[in-house]
Amino acid sequence: DTPQKTIDDRLKAICELLKSAVPYYDWVGFYFKNGDKEELKLGPYAGEPTDHTIIPFGKGICGQVAVSNQNFVVPDVSAQDNYIACSITVKAEIVVPLFVDGKNIGQIDIDSNTPDPFSVEDERFLEFVNAKVAEIL
Ligand code: SME
Repeated sequence: DTPQKTIDDRLKAICELLKSAVPYYDWVGFYFKNGDKEELKLGPYAGEPTDHTIIPFGKGICGQVAVSNQNFVVPDVSAQDNYIACSITVKAEIVVPLFVDGKNIGQIDIDSNTPDPFSVEDERFLEFVNAKVAEIL
């Protein structure tokens, strides 16, 4: 018998796959709304551990996406005022919200050590990934 893979196992595998497949994806993780609280909680990820396991709505790039329901592409993190640094090597970030039944329940967050690496193709691709993830949640 093959042991049943949990949702977290699957999400972690997706993070590892994305990180290894795309050279400029250096940290890939999911954040989810933490119950009824107005905050995000770190889910499965691939890359260096981060101190930012809880992010209040509105704070940082992730917290802003929790409120705006919009993709947020940051070509240069040093130009952002409302930004939470996870690592000094990070140059750019993309966050794409994850919708289940039209509700923003979390997001995929990707950090890059390459300046300005993200294009509209990354947005479309990560929207597709999130739509697939929404089907297994
Ligand atoms: N940089 C994010 C915080 C999460 S770390 O990138 C993993 C932000 O500003 O919300």
